[in-house]
Amino acid sequence: MNKLDSSLVVSALTDRGYELTDKATEADIIVINTCSVREHAEERVFSNLGHMKGLKRKRPHVIVAVIGCMAQRLGEELLAHEAVDIVAGPTQLHEVPDLIEQTLGDHEKHLSVTAQIRQPAASDEIVEASGKLDDFEIAYDSDANHIKSQAFIRAMRGCNNFCTYCIVPYVRGPEVSRPPLAVVEQAKKLVDSGIRQITLLGQTVNSYQYTENGKTYGLADLLQQVSEIDGVGWVRFITSHPGKFDTSILQVMADNPKVCPYLHIPAQSGSDRMLKAMNRGYTAADYIALMDTAREIVPDIAIAGDFIVGFPGETDEDFSQTVELVRRVRYKNAFVFKYSPRPGTHSEKKLVDDIPQEVKQQRNVQLLEVISEIAEEDNKRFLGQTVEVLVEGLSKKPHLNQAENENNPQLIGRTAGDYIVVFNGPESLTGKFAKVKVTKTAALTLFAELA
Ligand code: 5AD
Ligand code: SF4
Repeated sequence: MNKLDSSLVVSALTDRGYELTDKATEADIIVINTCSVREHAEERVFSNLGHMKGLKRKRPHVIVAVIGCMAQRLGEELLAHEAVDIVAGPTQLHEVPDLIEQTLGDHEKHLSVTAQIRQPAASDEIVEASGKLDDFEIAYDSDANHIKSQAFIRAMRGCNNFCTYCIVPYVRGPEVSRPPLAVVEQAKKLVDSGIRQITLLGQTVNSYQYTENGKTYGLADLLQQVSEIDGVGWVRFITSHPGKFDTSILQVMADNPKVCPYLHIPAQSGSDRMLKAMNRGYTAADYIALMDTAREIVPDIAIAGDFIVGFPGETDEDFSQTVELVRRVRYKNAFVFKYSPRPGTHSEKKLVDDIPQEVKQQRNVQLLEVISEIAEEDNKRFLGQTVEVLVEGLSKKPHLNQAENENNPQLIGRTAGDYIVVFNGPESLTGKFAKVKVTKTAALTLFAELA
């Protein structure tokens, strides 16, 4: 979501005549997009702002804008920082060009965030913000050295789930879905400009819902509509919440070859006690049943997830239930995070962060090992298979065990199931679909040759 937000802000600025540079030391304006989901992400921003202080001493005209979730969460506190000129929340990103112009004019600091973001009035503000920013043609991909073949499109903003550990509902506000027509029109423009893969985004994208002329559209309808665009290759979506997951989404995946058989659907824990304390709204058995259904409807589905270890009160027994769930579900890959109390959330206010750092760390490592071991085993099934990939471009960090040469460099592609594939081929394949034959597999990577 932050990558999309950054791209949209760059687009809005490019539209006003600004040019992008990748060197902070050359920039006249520096925009820092921020994340509040864990404390570590926020610490990194403060350390970055420390560097900005030094940079501004040498180049006093430089304007520093801090945007995104931290801006919404900390507002005035960030504005008070010596290095900061502009603070704009996730609902004010469309204002960034104007805020910069104001600062250029008056040399004052400017703050724009949403007051009372969970109040009904904020929804109107969010709808308006979406109309002003989300339609922008995305002119920039933050994975800059890859030719653009894939684009994110926002399906919805915000979240209403209030998982007890999570800051998102307080910084991004209530759920607001975009009209299907706005999404489809934007997708058409992107496909016309050469985009092959569209990823629909939302914090809980499966709760996408838009009612128009008495008809309600869900994510399944949106996927179908986007996949019908002439020239579109693959369509995918992230992220799903397992709570109210409509199987019509799986049906579209099964019936429509353009809708990728990939589901990122965080379980967060395998312990019912923890799931309840996290306010996730399902049990481990519910989650497993849903994953079984997903595999019945879409046999080759790739399932990915997120887990939090060290949530308040998590015992060894709770953790072993998480390991058990991982072994049962067999993820393609899963991210593991150490619980980080976020100010103002239910768990921060009402629960004690009682799991020692070493225990969090040890559970983190252990769970990653299990996830990796399973992925390594499961990936072996690809050996000898020919798979289709969308070629992203040159491999940034070429794998040494695969020789390359000038005319046949190492390329990176991804399958419909989001498996990363490394193979040698002409750079001109970038942004195109290619068929490759898998010759070697690892937990996170498939190695292949052009078929
Ligand atoms: N501490 C640790 N991890 C968190 N996540 C969200 N909030 C927290 C927190 N307070 C994780 C969840 C979510 C992912 C984006 O970040 O696993 O799915
Ligand atoms: Fe946060 Fe839960 Fe919403 Fe995901 S579903 S953004 S974890 S509150």
